[in-house]
Amino acid sequence: KFEGMAMTPPMGWNSWNTFATDIDEELVKETADIMVASGMKDAGYTYIVLDDGWMTRERDEEGNLVPDPEKFPNGMKALVDYVHSKGLKFGLYNCAGTKTCAGYPGTRGYEYQDARFYASLGIDFLKYDWCNTEGITAKEAYTTMSNALKKAGRPIVFSLCEWGDNDPWEWAEPVGNMWRISGDIYPCFDCEHKHPENWSSWGFMKIIDMRKGIRKYSGPDHWNDFDMLEVGNGMTVAEDRSHFAMWCMVASPLIAGNDFREMTDETLEILTNKDMIAINQDKLGIQGFRYSAEDGLEVWAKPLSNGDWAMTFLNRSESDKKINFDWSENAIKDELNNISTSFDTTVYNIKNIWEDKKAGTTKKNFKSKIAPHDVVTLRLIKKN
Ligand code: GLA
Repeated sequence: KFEGMAMTPPMGWNSWNTFATDIDEELVKETADIMVASGMKDAGYTYIVLDDGWMTRERDEEGNLVPDPEKFPNGMKALVDYVHSKGLKFGLYNCAGTKTCAGYPGTRGYEYQDARFYASLGIDFLKYDWCNTEGITAKEAYTTMSNALKKAGRPIVFSLCEWGDNDPWEWAEPVGNMWRISGDIYPCFDCEHKHPENWSSWGFMKIIDMRKGIRKYSGPDHWNDFDMLEVGNGMTVAEDRSHFAMWCMVASPLIAGNDFREMTDETLEILTNKDMIAINQDKLGIQGFRYSAEDGLEVWAKPLSNGDWAMTFLNRSESDKKINFDWSENAIKDELNNISTSFDTTVYNIKNIWEDKKAGTTKKNFKSKIAPHDVVTLRLIKKN
């Protein structure tokens, strides 16, 4: 892979969660324009990624992929150039199999040719899926594409999407910059959404719970990808806030999946919360962990640079929860990275992030109330 392309979790937008294959030039341009005008770009969102559905149903006579001329009447290159002219980056999707998940031409057998095509378009990101892959192994297929991209020469973020079925965390660090760890996300707190074709997509807390023991594999340039965001796609504001907070706590890529043209102020505020994004983008790149879970109240912790910590209290229950957190009785330790709090010897200033205000120090108990499915996120700022 191209090293160093994703030293913090990639941030951007992807068409799939809202639009599926119903995508076109206008949508991309408008999304790029709003990304800049709304402050999303300033908050760190960079990549605009077209997911499945951008191609015609067949390759051309030379075996090249063909961007759908009805959806993209001015061609893909012009669109990539437009996105670049806004100071943003552009991504496309394909699949390791013979066809993509939505039935468009897959890359199997065309890896080097497709990689050259992407380089000629000037794209910056490739999401690479795993449908219709009978008879091939994931490690080999993703390695082949990674090598092909490298050969084509244009630096590209390579995003693996085999849903965690082949333990990518064990082999993909040299292959790609991020890898999905689950099936598809669904805009709900922790439901399982069953599709008629006999597969399921998952509420965001189901994805959080899905894999045990993989946090050690995630870090700068090789991230566990918890899937694209569903913020603004129909959950309550509390749930959207929790979803975003959890993705920040686990250092997942932050790829928005909502329709920017219909974005409410509340959605925009969540997606551009600077203190939350700072937690996600912290340069240590440590995936946070569940510190405790009791009676529907979870406490999550993430070590940050300069000795700071992020703490998120999450109410998984259906009733209000009171927090009364006695710092002196809690020593929080990240065993993996050998980083601990020391509330007996070190005092931290506390910022309550979603309320955007100071909340005293760790000398006094932290008290608050959390509504069902909501979160309280704190940044503990180490005093010098
Ligand atoms: C799979 C992926 C999704 C999306 C679709 C496109 O389901 O997991 O994220 O890319 O394919 O068909």
